[in-house]
Parts: sequence; C-alpha cells; structure tokens
Amino acid sequence: MTQLKNDLLLKALRGETVERPPVWMMRQAGRYLPDYIKLREKYDFFTRCQTPELATEITLQPVDQVGVDAAIIFSDILVIPQAMGVEVLMEEGKGPSLPKTIATQKDIDALITTGAEESLKYVYDALSLTKKELNGRVPLIGFAGAPWTILCYMVEGKGSKTWDKAKQFAYTQPARAHQLLQKITDITIVYLKNQVKAGADTVQVFDSWAGSLSPADFKLYAQPYLFQIAEALKDDAPVILFPKGTWHALKEISESAASGVGIDWCITPQMAREFTQNKITIQGNFDPAKLLAPIPEIRKAVKEMIDAFGTQRYIANLGHGITPNVPVDHARAFVDAVKEYKL
Ligand code: CP3
Repeated sequence: MTQLKNDLLLKALRGETVERPPVWMMRQAGRYLPDYIKLREKYDFFTRCQTPELATEITLQPVDQVGVDAAIIFSDILVIPQAMGVEVLMEEGKGPSLPKTIATQKDIDALITTGAEESLKYVYDALSLTKKELNGRVPLIGFAGAPWTILCYMVEGKGSKTWDKAKQFAYTQPARAHQLLQKITDITIVYLKNQVKAGADTVQVFDSWAGSLSPADFKLYAQPYLFQIAEALKDDAPVILFPKGTWHALKEISESAASGVGIDWCITPQMAREFTQNKITIQGNFDPAKLLAPIPEIRKAVKEMIDAFGTQRYIANLGHGITPNVPVDHARAFVDAVKEYKL
C-alpha cells in the first residue's frame, strides 16, 4: 500500500502531534468549482456519482485546485435510500426529491435491507480508483448520512426548514421510527466498512439535521444510532461525527467511540473545548458565508479561529458545506491561511 505523503488529517484524528492543523472543506467537490460545472453540463447528478471515472475526477478537483489536505469521495448521502429501493431524483438547482415517502409499516416492510449495500459497488469502485489516482498525496474520506438525517428525507420527501413531517412521524409512531432508524443504521455500518475496505482512510457521518431536534429528542432519535456507527467502525478507521447544531451533546460525543466531531459556527471554540476536554478532535467551525467576505477578512478570521482552537487535536474546516457562490480564490485563501498559520 502506498505510504501517505500528507497524513495530517489522520494524525490529528489520532491525537498525535502535528506541525500545523489539517484543512479540508465540507462539500469541497461541487458547484463553486468551474470544472465541476462543466461536467455537470454533460452528465446528470447520479451519473456523476455512479461512474467511478467521473466521481474520481470530481473528487480530485479540490485537491488539485484548492490544495486541501484531504479528498472526500464524490457521492451523496441519499444513495442509501436508493439502495433501499426508494426512488431519489436530483433536480438541478432544486435539490433532492423522493416521490414515494415512508409513512406506514407497509412502506418500511417494503424496504430492501439485506444486501442493500451491495448495489453501492460503484461507490467502492470510485474510492479504489480515487485512492490509486491520489497516489498517497492526501488521505481519502468516505462518508454516509446519519440515520436521523436519512429518515428526514425518506419521510419528508424533500428538504425542509422545520422537518415537521419527519418529527411528526417520530413523535406519533416512535416504534416505527426506531425500526426505520435501525434499518438505516445496519446498512450504513456495512456500507462504511466496505468504503474503508475500498480505500477510505477515515469516514464522516453527516447528521445535517440533528440540530432540528431538541436535546432530549436528539438523545432518543439520533445519538444512539450515531454512536452505534462509531462503535462498529472504530476498529476499521477513525470516525468523524457531524451532528450539526448539537453543541448540547458535545460532552457525550467526546466520550463516544468517535475520533472527531464536527461543529458549526454557533458555538465558540472555547466552549467546544470546555465541553470536550481534549478527549476528541474538533473539526470546524468557519461560517461558510464568511468565505464571501474580502480575502483579508477571511485570513484574519482563520487566524483567530486557530488561535482559539489551538493547533492540536484540531481540523480546520467549515461549520457546514461550502455554498456555490463562493469564489474559488476565496476558498483557496481559506486553505492557504490555515497552511500559513503562525502562532
Ligand atoms: O463534500 C463533498 O465534496 C463530497 C460530495 C457530497 C455531496 N453531497 C455532493 C452533492 C457530500 C459530502 C454530500 C452530502 C450531503 N448530501 C448532505 C450532508 C452535508 C450537508 O451539506 O449537510 C446532504 C444533506 C445531502 C443531500 C443533498 N444533496 C442536498 C440537500 C442537495 C441539494 C442542495 C445542495 O446542497 O447542493 C444535494 C445535491 C448535491 N450533492 C450536489 C453535490 C455537489 C449539488 C447538485 C449538483 O451539483 O447538481
């Protein structure tokens, strides 16, 4: 196996000493990159995901063009509902839509469970090809959506500001919600293990809508499933959990089997460190919209962010995905400012 030339991300996740913090950006392969837009004109979204050569090319773009310290495989969290037999459409500019939502026991019983992850061979192939093309330049991140966030899409059928239908499902049919969450968890565990076998050096679990739940409901419907995944994967690869908006759970997350936790920009670095007591590597938490500020402002804010987190047990990143309107040179300024950080 090729030795990694830059293993800052893995070192930071293992709590080892690093000469500077690693940096990558959530959703770094995507619409702010002109070369991605060009490919988008030729192939539809799921063709891009399902064709290993295309997924690899897109995955490498931010490594080559923005200089990040990690690659994250180009795919989507909604390939799991697809593998369970649920139709997912991606309308350009409108986001995902799932025409047949989950509402009844019959719907849950009809889901494909055993072997569902086998239909995601194209993801494993994309990881293997990307790993080969990277040739040890930087680590490769695999990922999946968290069970709660996947349930949100399966029940609502599309994005939502409040996720009230998903919550209504959980609050009126809790046993069914748990049954669905467990099915998603079981598949996700095998899926992530397969990603590691195919070449992922670490995996991140995106719980983008965890913050829609109250602390008590997060503990019921999200946290146990996140922790099951972290526990099941911990001997395969370091796990990064990203339950966005759940600063209230940071203490427990720091005591879980996860190696890293992503945080958003609604909490100060000092608070995040206080809650986690250096028991876990923290990833974040630059406001993605701040990338729209003038470059000198970006550089200043990055310096302040690292001053506050410290350089160890820390991964510089955004607090959520990069938005399509970010100029590429602003994304590059963010990355460069981390790489050039001096105390
Ligand atoms: O980070 C990366 O660069 C890897 C690629 C990646 C995509 N989706 C590609 C994509 C990752 C890690 C995801 C995760 C994902 N997908 C999440 C969790 C992260 C987050 O932002 O909260 C979620 C909630 C989804 C579901 C999803 N997929 C939505 C809501 C949308 C539409 C809106 C949007 O943010 O783009 C997508 C489509 C999607 N997934 C695009 C990309 C590059 C844009 C569609 C296109 O380019 O045609």
